[in-house]
Amino acid sequence: MASPVSTFRFRDLPLLSRLGLTCLIITLLGGMFASLVFLYDHYRNRDEEPELTLLDIEGAYRGATVPAPILTALESGHPADTDGATPVPDADRQMLLDWLRGPRIPENYENFDLGPPADLIAINCASCHTRAAAADPDSGIKRSLEFWEDVRPLALSRDMQPTPQRVLVISTHAHATTLALVGAFAAACLTFSFWPRWLVGLLVAAMGLGLLLDVGAWWAIRLDASWWLGAPGRNWVYAIVAGGALFNAGVWLAMGMTLVELWRPRFGRAKPKRQNAEDAK
Ligand code: HEC
Repeated sequence: MASPVSTFRFRDLPLLSRLGLTCLIITLLGGMFASLVFLYDHYRNRDEEPELTLLDIEGAYRGATVPAPILTALESGHPADTDGATPVPDADRQMLLDWLRGPRIPENYENFDLGPPADLIAINCASCHTRAAAADPDSGIKRSLEFWEDVRPLALSRDMQPTPQRVLVISTHAHATTLALVGAFAAACLTFSFWPRWLVGLLVAAMGLGLLLDVGAWWAIRLDASWWLGAPGRNWVYAIVAGGALFNAGVWLAMGMTLVELWRPRFGRAKPKRQNAEDAK
């Protein structure tokens, strides 16, 4: 059965309407681009590393702990993984681990009962991790462990606090409503276009599912939905990224396809008469 909407196309609109719609679409895409830039800037520094990573997003929605780099290095057996390294004696390694896993890390840096850590690092690490080596891009060493100011940022684990629930409500109220309308507009544009129906259906489904997955996952993480889908909270971070990507890609594609629809050459006229005859059946 042909649906009644199948004859009207955006291409049939008068010139001024098509001009207006074109301007609206360009503005909308500008806004979407700005929000991507904002997202990147807003989240990428959560873990104090400049790149935007899953950890940033996890930190923002769920909260996360970034372990101290020195702790990670010691736990993975470093510096035994480095050519020409003298192995760290087990007693020294254990004392450093106790220090880093314990409380009051800055205060205990010079605590004799724990080594002191300052000396253990000077003996075992500072031969390679000098300031001179860290300053020399060819040395292969990126961080100095020579002085406390150098050690400190690598010795402390950091907790990333998730966005407060009140802020998440505000964000949902702004995003869920406007983005759903953006998606609905894109869906309408595609529906009244010459593009094949299967492609239209695929894109509309992708936008709808993507947005629901994205916003739904914010809340699934916040309310810890692991009890009903069995997925540990962390997996919802992938849902946020996948859903957001699906929705954004869908809207961009739909808007591009709509611009083509608005300005494509006309292939013959719509045939309202035949349509009416079919509807009458
Ligand atoms: C034989 C030389 C050598 C010794 C000794 C050594 N390291 Fe390293 N270390 C390296 C190299 C090479 C790298 C890789 C380059 C980098 O990331 O700085 C590295 C990387 C690291 C990193 C990662 C830095 C980052 O960018 O996050 C940490 C942390 C670290 N070392 C801690 C230590 C500690 C603690 C000790 C002493 C127990 C130690 N290293 C002893 C050579 C050494």
